[in-house]
Amino acid sequence: MTNPRIVVTGKIPEPGVEVLNTIGEVWAWTDDEPIPHDIRDERLATADAAVTLLTDTVDEAFLDAAPQLKIVANVAVGYNNIDVGLCQARGVTVTNTPGVLTDATADLAMGLLLMVTRRLGEGERLIRSETPWKWGMFMMLGTGLQGRQLGIIGMGGIGQALAQRARAFGMQIVYHNRSAVAPDIEAALDARRCNLDELLATSDVVSLNCPYSEETHHLIDAYALSAMRNDAVLVNTARGPIVDEGALVEALSNGEIGAVALDVFEHEPKVHPGLLGLDNAVLVPHLGSATVETRTAMATLAARNVVGFFGGSGPATPVT
Ligand code: DGY
Repeated sequence: MTNPRIVVTGKIPEPGVEVLNTIGEVWAWTDDEPIPHDIRDERLATADAAVTLLTDTVDEAFLDAAPQLKIVANVAVGYNNIDVGLCQARGVTVTNTPGVLTDATADLAMGLLLMVTRRLGEGERLIRSETPWKWGMFMMLGTGLQGRQLGIIGMGGIGQALAQRARAFGMQIVYHNRSAVAPDIEAALDARRCNLDELLATSDVVSLNCPYSEETHHLIDAYALSAMRNDAVLVNTARGPIVDEGALVEALSNGEIGAVALDVFEHEPKVHPGLLGLDNAVLVPHLGSATVETRTAMATLAARNVVGFFGGSGPATPVT
């Protein structure tokens, strides 16, 4: 197809728009605020392609507004914001951006892990509150990572990249995944696959790195939290609704688990009010892929998927 009409529903790094400009007529929303639905729908009415963000819900209303749509290119590895089945039924191809955000997200997970085990958020808050303090032998003691067990739920690229980092800190790795990773990777990471019950019961740190789906909705619920050790730390850089946030607040308040570090939230951007006052909760605003390099690579990959689709070679990273 020549000169497809491409709608970019959110602000993306310019190199992504430049790639799109090479093949079609591009209209891009350039405001930091989300695009109002009436403007979005007006643009979608004649769109052949939509480049979307994880904050866009691609549902029946979105697709109804876009009768000519052929491809949705999500600028995210996660695509739970898209009704993939409905897209398939309407002949709309869906693509995502795996690979390019693996390191940034694993870095952030490791950062959160250090932040929560060394109580860095608490320390920061103490200083900024101008509370008088002095060095003390027993002041704000955390825990080291050496020899501790990291249980990774979801051993895809990001889970493996986190394992690699955690190994450098002397941690032991167990993982829970639908299928075993390749033996050479297991060997390199000295990682052992185990079932979820064992992982929850024995890990010092549990990290969520699995996709969000019906299957993983509230995977970490009251039961799972009670199965974890009382001093265990939970880290979530995947998707908020994998954790039952109400049950998490209860578990943290009752000492059923030790601490949590969250990059994502069940009702994002809302955060459960019960988390806000807890010193054993580190909370950051969905920053997993938030580096200049990574966001640029994500936008460029999404754009290349659109180019590949209309150019005939096919998108590099289709979901379906
Ligand atoms: C993704 O791409 O799914 C990430 O959550 C973005 O940070």
